[in-house]
Amino acid sequence: MSEEQIKSLEAEFEARIARDEKIEPKDWMPEKYRQTHIRQISQHAHSEIVGMLPEGNWITRAPSLRRKVALLAKVQDEAGHGLYLYSACETLGISRDELYDQLHSGKAKYSSIFNYPTLTWADIGAIGWLVDGAAIINQVPLCNTSFGPYARAMVRVCKEESFHQRQGYEIMLKLCQGTPEQKEMAQDALNRWWWPSLMMFGPTDDVSVHTAQSMKWKLKRKTNDELRQQFIDQTIPQAEILGITVPDADLKWNEERGHYDFGEINWDEFWQVVKGHGPCNKERMSARVGAWEKGTWVRDAAMAYAEKQENKKLNKAV
Ligand SMILES: [Fe+2]
Ligand SMILES: [Fe+2]
Repeated sequence: MSEEQIKSLEAEFEARIARDEKIEPKDWMPEKYRQTHIRQISQHAHSEIVGMLPEGNWITRAPSLRRKVALLAKVQDEAGHGLYLYSACETLGISRDELYDQLHSGKAKYSSIFNYPTLTWADIGAIGWLVDGAAIINQVPLCNTSFGPYARAMVRVCKEESFHQRQGYEIMLKLCQGTPEQKEMAQDALNRWWWPSLMMFGPTDDVSVHTAQSMKWKLKRKTNDELRQQFIDQTIPQAEILGITVPDADLKWNEERGHYDFGEINWDEFWQVVKGHGPCNKERMSARVGAWEKGTWVRDAAMAYAEKQENKKLNKAV
């Protein structure tokens, strides 16, 4: 293809995005668009899969049958989200095996929030309320993103995330209305999860490297700082209903801005966790790789069975 032809394809592509048309897998797209989407969608898929680990840990210890059923359903939803997203990513020309390999070898990233430990039952409440709450704020704009398979997957994912957020908040509410010890447990979970939740929106706008290009492709509709502010403004009144407080001495309503002001985020901690030095990075990866290896016989059996069926069909045809 000549340079001129590529330029005209690029111009047509940008025009389609400007018109809010969806880009589908078989459409022409710039290589950078394809690579950026592979990176973002696979990171998202990996986060759903690794995100099952801190909570899966509590399924056997959930305090009642009702809580167990709700948590089990939530963790299963996250597996489903991971699978939709791997499928969406495969339409861009990368195989599932390559994607798994990138995760297991440590080449691919997943959301750092899942490298923190879940110490008490209240952490399951705090995760649903804050982590799924932050995920919704990040993901709702993606229902309108330009790449068709990603946008369509997000519609269902967001509906399920809102169930996750509510079940988490309800756990917190119950604890906060319970004994002083239970309320203390809820406060302790909020203390530990608040700052990592704010970090989920990524670095501040002045240092975020992908923002400008991603905004152009509508892969991002609002900046990291805007989304973080939205999360804080939405969450503080919910904490007030619970009667617990976020661990930030600088948090204050700013009448003039119409938003909450908040304290400095510890970015050193953020980068340490991103680089693999968080409290549970190693534990999460060894659990994930271990599960993959233990599942080898299931995958082998499924392949052997499929082959057998295929041979049967062929023999009949002859
Ligand atoms: Fe999810
Ligand atoms: Fe979720």
